[in-house]
Amino acid sequence: MRRRQFIGALGTTLGGAGLAGAAFDLLAQSPLRTPDVIFVPSNFDVVVQMLKLAEVTSKDIVYDLGCGDGRFVVTAARQFGARGVGIDIDPERIQEARELSARTGADDKVRFIQGDLFDTDISEATVVTLYLLTRLNLKLRPKLMKELKPGTRIVSHAFDMGDWKPEKSEMVGGAPIYLWRVPPRA
Ligand SMILES: C[S@@+](CC[C@H](N)C(=O)[O-])C[C@H]1O[C@@H](n2cnc3c(N)ncnc32)[C@H](O)[C@@H]1O
Repeated sequence: MRRRQFIGALGTTLGGAGLAGAAFDLLAQSPLRTPDVIFVPSNFDVVVQMLKLAEVTSKDIVYDLGCGDGRFVVTAARQFGARGVGIDIDPERIQEARELSARTGADDKVRFIQGDLFDTDISEATVVTLYLLTRLNLKLRPKLMKELKPGTRIVSHAFDMGDWKPEKSEMVGGAPIYLWRVPPRA
């Protein structure tokens, strides 16, 4: 789904941007390092179904690690009443995410951090969403186990966690989505 359609699906319309100043700021920035994976957005059906699979409610804090244009956390706020935090290494994505949250009226519930997902504190999350790669999920696993509270739900689009078998999985639009729950501490 194209970005404009996605915003339409959230029940809003695009207004005039007037972001010339922000665009100049953006040109002066660059990612902290090369992103581990390029930006490929999840489509709207996948976003909604992953949030449903994780049973997101207004009590949740949803972290999207590699948030792209912010669609997971904005949808979690707008459609599920949750709070959200998006982290992306690419300043252009963070700029887009802030635009999306402003235009959809989600600003009071979400925030975006430009940073490396491997170096950012994620301990307050109750739900984590991922659309990375299996090798990145595996690299992330020790951090998820160390920082997240037992019971925190993790949902991933398309990519699994190797030998950590999901509690649930289903197909959405031809791609698998997976759910895990952080186990009690040993
Ligand atoms: C496949 S896109 C997924 C975007 C969004 N989560 C979605 O599903 O629509 C992956 C995103 O991860 C970001 N990314 C890649 N490596 C990263 C890193 N080390 N730290 C933070 N973000 C990263 C990219 O900039 C990109 O926006």
